[in-house]
Amino acid sequence: MPIQTFTSSRALTGRIRVPGDKSISHRALMFAGLAVGTSRISGLLEGEDVLASAAAMRQLGAQVEREADGTWVVNGAGLGSLLEPKQALDMGNSGTSTRLMMGLLASHSITATFTGDASLSGRPMNRVIEPLSQMGASFEASSGGTLPCMLRGVSPAVPITYRLPVASAQVKSAVLLAGLNTPGITRVIEPVATRDHTERMLTGFGATVEVSEESGERVISIHGEADLKPMDVVVPGDPSSAAFFLVAASIVPGSDLVVENVGLNPTRAGIVHALRQMGADIEELFPREVGGEPVADLRVRHAPLKGAEIDPAIVPSMVDEFPVLFVAAAVAEGTTVTTGLEELRVKESDRLSTMADALKLAGAHVAEHEDGLTIIGTGGEPLRGTQDGAKVVTKLDHRIAMAMAVAGLASRDGVAIDDTAPIATSFPDFTDLLERASS
Ligand code: S3P
Repeated sequence: MPIQTFTSSRALTGRIRVPGDKSISHRALMFAGLAVGTSRISGLLEGEDVLASAAAMRQLGAQVEREADGTWVVNGAGLGSLLEPKQALDMGNSGTSTRLMMGLLASHSITATFTGDASLSGRPMNRVIEPLSQMGASFEASSGGTLPCMLRGVSPAVPITYRLPVASAQVKSAVLLAGLNTPGITRVIEPVATRDHTERMLTGFGATVEVSEESGERVISIHGEADLKPMDVVVPGDPSSAAFFLVAASIVPGSDLVVENVGLNPTRAGIVHALRQMGADIEELFPREVGGEPVADLRVRHAPLKGAEIDPAIVPSMVDEFPVLFVAAAVAEGTTVTTGLEELRVKESDRLSTMADALKLAGAHVAEHEDGLTIIGTGGEPLRGTQDGAKVVTKLDHRIAMAMAVAGLASRDGVAIDDTAPIATSFPDFTDLLERASS
C-alpha cells in the first residue's frame, strides 16, 4: 500500500486539464459496445474503473481498442447479440460498471457472475436487483444483496414503470439500459433529478428516449427494442476531478489556477455553487459545448472561505464532491452544516464516518450525524495535520485519498495517507498534476 504525506504547498498557478468524465466514459464504452458499427471515443478517462468497463465489454463480445493517440475505437457487438462471458466479470472498485452492466445484461439471455474488490463487495446491489427482477431477470447475490452475484438475464424482458426509491443515476441507468432490449416502453420516475448522461448519450446513439415532467417529477421513457447506431464521442473533463483543484486553489494563499475543459452539466455542477456560496472566487471562461455537454475553463483564485448551510436539494448534483467540500469547510471561517447525505454512507466507503475520522485526525473540528457532518472551520489558519505516525485510513476510497491530500496542502505538519493506490480508479495523474500546479 503506497503511503504518502501531503504537505503545505506553494500557491497553485498556471493551467491544468483534468481527465475525462468518469460517468460519461463508462457510458460511451458501453453504448458503443451495443451499437452495430464503429464508434470512436476521445478524451476517455483511462482510470481503473473505466478500464473495468472496457474489459467487461470485451468479454461480452465488443471489440475495444486504444489507438496510439489515445482515441478508443469500439466495434459494437450489437444490442441483443451480447455473448455470455466465459469468466466472471471483475468490476474492481467500480459501482457504476457493476450496476449499469447488470442493467445491460438483465434483458439478454445470458448468465454472468459479477465480482469486485473488498469495497465494492460491501456495497448494496438490491437497489438494482429489485427493479431488474421485476423485469424478469433473476439473481443469486451474496448475503445482504452484495457481490459476488450471479445474474440470469431474460429475453424478452418485461417493460416496467419504476419510481426511484433513492436518488441514484446508477439505478436509473440500470433500468433504462435493461429497457433498451425490452419490447415496449420502460419508464423511470425520478422524484429528484440525478445526472442525465445516460439520457443525453443514448439519444445520440439513436435510441428513442423521452423526458417529461409530471407533478414535479422527471419521467424518462425508453422505447425498446432499440437499434443503436455508432457515434463519435468527445468526453469532457470530469467536474468531480476538477473539484479537488477548485478547493486546493481556494484554500492555498496566492493561488490563481485555470482548470481547463470542465464539464458543467447542471446535474453535476453543484460543487461550483456550494463553493461560491462559501465565498470562493471561481470564474467560468469560454463556455462552450463538448460532446453535447456544457463545458468551460474554470479560473479559481485563493479567497477566504466562510462556513455555510448547504441546501440538501443540491446534494444529487454534487454527491461525489462532499469529501473535498468538507476539507474546504474545515479551514473556512465559521460553521458548515450538511444534511441529506445518507447516500454517502454507501459509496466506495462510508464517506461520512471516513471523512469525520480523517479530518479529526488532521486536527479539524467535526461532528458526525446520521445524514451529514457539521464542521467548525479554522478561519483560514492551517489544520494541524496528522502526528506521531498516524495515517488517514482511506478504506479503498479514491475520493477520501484525494480530499485528504488537499487537506495536507493547508496543514502545518502535513497529512499522511495510508494508501494512495485507489486514486488510480478515477484520476491516475492526480499527484503529478498537483505537483505541477504548485511548483
Ligand atoms: C454515478 C452515479 C453516482 C456517483 C457515481 C457515478 C454514475 O452514484 O456517486 O460516482 O455514473 O451514474 P449513485 O447513482 O449511486 O448516486
